[in-house]
Amino acid sequence: MAKCEFKSLPDAKLQRQRNTSFSFSYDEINISETLSNYAKGKTYYIHTYGCQANYRDEEIISGILTKAGFIKANDENADIIILNTCAVRENAEDKVFGKIGELKAIKAKNKNAIIAICGCMVQQIHIINKILDIYKHVDLIFGTHNITDLPKLLDEIILKRNKIVDVKSQPSLIEENLPSTRLSSFKAFVNISYGCDKFCTYCIVPYTRGKERSRKMEDILNECRELKEAGYQEVTLLGQNVNAYGKDFKDGTTFAKLLEEVAKLNIPRIRFLTSHPWDFKEEMIDVIAKYDNIMKYIHLPVQSGSSEILKLMGRRYTSDQYKQLVTLIRSKIKDVYLSTDIIVGFPNETEEQFQETLEMVKFAQYDSAFTFIYSPRNNTPAAKMVDNVTREEKSSRFKRLVAELEKSVSASSMAMVGKTFKVLVEGASEKDSSMLSGYTEGNKLVHFKGDLSLVGKIVDVKIIVSHTYSLIGELINA
Ligand code: SAH
Ligand code: SF4
Ligand code: F3S
Repeated sequence: MAKCEFKSLPDAKLQRQRNTSFSFSYDEINISETLSNYAKGKTYYIHTYGCQANYRDEEIISGILTKAGFIKANDENADIIILNTCAVRENAEDKVFGKIGELKAIKAKNKNAIIAICGCMVQQIHIINKILDIYKHVDLIFGTHNITDLPKLLDEIILKRNKIVDVKSQPSLIEENLPSTRLSSFKAFVNISYGCDKFCTYCIVPYTRGKERSRKMEDILNECRELKEAGYQEVTLLGQNVNAYGKDFKDGTTFAKLLEEVAKLNIPRIRFLTSHPWDFKEEMIDVIAKYDNIMKYIHLPVQSGSSEILKLMGRRYTSDQYKQLVTLIRSKIKDVYLSTDIIVGFPNETEEQFQETLEMVKFAQYDSAFTFIYSPRNNTPAAKMVDNVTREEKSSRFKRLVAELEKSVSASSMAMVGKTFKVLVEGASEKDSSMLSGYTEGNKLVHFKGDLSLVGKIVDVKIIVSHTYSLIGELINA
């Protein structure tokens, strides 16, 4: 059996720390002759789970492998197979373990295939141990803070045929000028900050993604300019917490300022994800309202409607403060679409506290929402809380929550019927290939008949039928 070399391992204690420093790097990625010779005629495949940050990482990994000379494969029958994982809930991790198991057959067919696992899951030592114990066909484990080490790690594996684990606890660099193979030719994610310092008590992200750190505004604007010149129709500015952008510079830089500068570049559609309700400044609302190319869609995770639970979650706002923010947003931004994330069954959540969440849903009238059952995450404070809410009760609350949300989500879709909306065409509909699909400015999914030549274009679509989670429309003047 191949020997395993441990270059670094994640340590939850270090991951909790925020006093480490980092620097900016503009160096190019070096590809050795060994790797480029090896890559000739060989393929790679990446399967990504989780949030947009992970998809953006996939594009960088893809860029690095393309630079080395590998060709992208359409399925797992490739020479390098990478699973880019998510740790946010247990069911996300279960899916990945299922997939790692399946890859055993690939390795049996092709002994020289290199199987690698990266992303948030492997920032946890117990996951690394489990992979090494059970899934002997995995060759490489690397973390979220060292994806640019990939060429060096592959060099070693090719030359020595050993296994490697290299997962750093903390980030040390913000790396610019990285190669990137974008997943879409018309919509793009642009990182504005990495990591998260909020430490909500249930959440693993501050451990897996490290200290909150902002990219320099000039670097972000340059990336956006390039995308605009390449004809991109939509740019989504990404951060676990976009309103914290620029605070680490301590020079007065704010997200509102960045958003305004990006808007001035005249990219047709600008989105941003995710806004924490805490510290969502009026200045930001004003910028969103001012520019037509900033989409009137705000994802504003509430998590719970109970101030007591919010306090236990470490969310830094009360139910009333959140409601005031919703009222201000709705009063200042005409026809804004609001979406949210909600967790039910946080440890010891009472029926009354859950009722407050239902009441919040009635108040906020969300246009869309993502709902989750609380999932304990290793090393987080909430995982240590004794929990007296049964599984059955949690799943009953989940169903009742979804039913309540459906009322406002359907009402919002229904109100669109008969009106015309701008839709960015994504491609053929997944369910019915004779239809096209795309998203409105308010991020509602619309299906309509049209020619595939419209993919990547913004078209006018009149809504004729509304379902809860999607709409049927007809193309106007195409
Ligand atoms: N930074 C973003 C997104 C983080 S993860 C934010 O704060 O909104 C996306 C969503 O997953 C969260 O909003 C939360 O609703 C959910 N989530 C995170 N940890 C969870 C856990 N342990 N159990 C269940 N849901 C969780
Ligand atoms: Fe997790 Fe909270 Fe940070 Fe969002 S803000 S990533 S929920 S710790
Ligand atoms: Fe998952 Fe990591 Fe994103 S835990 S939600 S992939 S930051």
